[in-house]
Amino acid sequence: MSRILITSALPYINGVKHLGNLVGSMLPSDVYARFMRACGHEVLLICATDEHGTPAEIAAQQAGKDVAEYCAEQYGQQKKYGDAFGIEFDYFGRSSSPQNHALTQHFAQVLEAQGLIEEREDAQVYSIDDGRFLPDRYIEGTCPKCDYEKARGDQCDNCGSLLDPTDLINPYSTISGSKNLEVRKTKHLYLLQSKLVDRVREWVGSKTGWSNLVTSIAYKWLDEGLNDRCITRDLKWGIPVLKDGKPRPGYEEKVFYVWFDAPIEYIAATQEWAEAQGTPDAWQRWWYGDEAKDVNYVQIMGKDNVPFHTVSFPVTLLGSEEPWKSADKIKGFNWLNWYGGKFSTSQNRGVFMDQALEILPADYWRYYLMANAPESDDTSFTWEHFASVVNKDLADVLGNFINRILRFTKSRFDESVPDGGQPGHLEEKLAADLGAGIMAYGDHLEELEFRKALQELRALWVMGNEYLSEAAPWAIVKEDPETAAMACRTAINLIRIYGLLAAPIIPASAKTILSAIGCENEMGHWPSADARRELLKLSAGAPFDVPDVLFKKIEDDQIAEWTARFGGPESNQ
Ligand code: MF3
Ligand code: ZN
Repeated sequence: MSRILITSALPYINGVKHLGNLVGSMLPSDVYARFMRACGHEVLLICATDEHGTPAEIAAQQAGKDVAEYCAEQYGQQKKYGDAFGIEFDYFGRSSSPQNHALTQHFAQVLEAQGLIEEREDAQVYSIDDGRFLPDRYIEGTCPKCDYEKARGDQCDNCGSLLDPTDLINPYSTISGSKNLEVRKTKHLYLLQSKLVDRVREWVGSKTGWSNLVTSIAYKWLDEGLNDRCITRDLKWGIPVLKDGKPRPGYEEKVFYVWFDAPIEYIAATQEWAEAQGTPDAWQRWWYGDEAKDVNYVQIMGKDNVPFHTVSFPVTLLGSEEPWKSADKIKGFNWLNWYGGKFSTSQNRGVFMDQALEILPADYWRYYLMANAPESDDTSFTWEHFASVVNKDLADVLGNFINRILRFTKSRFDESVPDGGQPGHLEEKLAADLGAGIMAYGDHLEELEFRKALQELRALWVMGNEYLSEAAPWAIVKEDPETAAMACRTAINLIRIYGLLAAPIIPASAKTILSAIGCENEMGHWPSADARRELLKLSAGAPFDVPDVLFKKIEDDQIAEWTARFGGPESNQ
């Protein structure tokens, strides 16, 4: 048994997240955590809302609310929909917590003492009409790299380049639309990342089993040479810039940059967790010193977050020269697109977590998203594809198997596992294939290779259907009731195995499945790869119920309705 720390990239506070956000961090984190817990490991799964920076201020303004009030409200929403999707965080914190305030000050202080933070006078865009500086998303203009006209001050959404507000062509304030801007000098704190390039390169180089996506992003940044990074902003909302516990002179109107404090919240949220459960020091054995050395720490995120986790956050941790735990594995995801384009709230394109649950239960989405996780490439959501996956895999292959065999057994025998017969060569072959499949599925999950894992899971379901077609208890029940009983018993044992294996992916359905055959107390355990033994777990006489249809098929008129409501193929033109 080992200790596994998992952090899911922190969702921005600015509204309910869409399916792309869900599949890029929170959902795979939960699947991985559930799997690891089932295997008997000690798991700590941490997430939080990312509440600072311009995204929070702008969203609050648009909602006509005070930022603190807006964040509290949105935190409640995100927590609610996370729970409704079955995401079982050990703790879901808030980056605005007192713990994160304190820890962010700590890191700033220690990094400064290590000579890694420096004050620099800097040219910033100032809006005369708004009477303020315009950091990050408060300014937009034309991207100097690709000519996209709505590039933001910090990043171009079209070509992905990281930008500085002063790079933009024809810039305007997103607060007032004013173009009456000038460049003014003001002081900011810089984190001297350039001094740590070699350390970070060595750190990345020491890791094994990272995907190409992640290492190539890391090396691209390291090879281009790390720029020293401005870690303060001219904003009101955020973590104040202190020195010896008092506002730092010249920084009274500034706060730390959101990307400085957000990853620190991984640790601070663990402190929130420890305090909430009445053991305030319990966070340390996950994060600090010798005690944390044997923790296996996995970070999960979308690809835009990878530079901050492979480079910037390691600079904070390594540069402190304190014994903080850093990531052992970083899992990055590509984009889930909407009919080949981007999800967009403003243009009514794509499905958000709250809306998804209005139309179907969480497990339909969980299965589809994990089976089509954008791992090796970006993937596209389409209603047609979604419907075909749900209808085939969940309704026809898994759901039908379960209902068919339980209904048949009940009608021919009884509402309990039937007695009689001896496993023969069909069952031998099934056990061998099943054992290999269980191993492969577990290996892929352990490697965080979700698409491969789900292919294997589906193959295991198909295997059961094939077994049943060959054994065909309905065809032999008259002349050979003993063998038919044995086939039904074997198939009901398969249901148990399917329930256990599917639990990390579709937990609510797995619970229904296991309850139907009286195995709900086994929920959260993992079957062994000794399939011969696993197939004998439920013996004659064990009672069962026939559950209602587990997965309803998606009909064409539903596709039409959802396409009209959420956008479809034409929505990207
Ligand atoms: N809020 C960021 C995003 O959604 C992710 C922050 S991850 C953390 O892109 F490392 F900062 F915590
Ligand atoms: Zn661009």
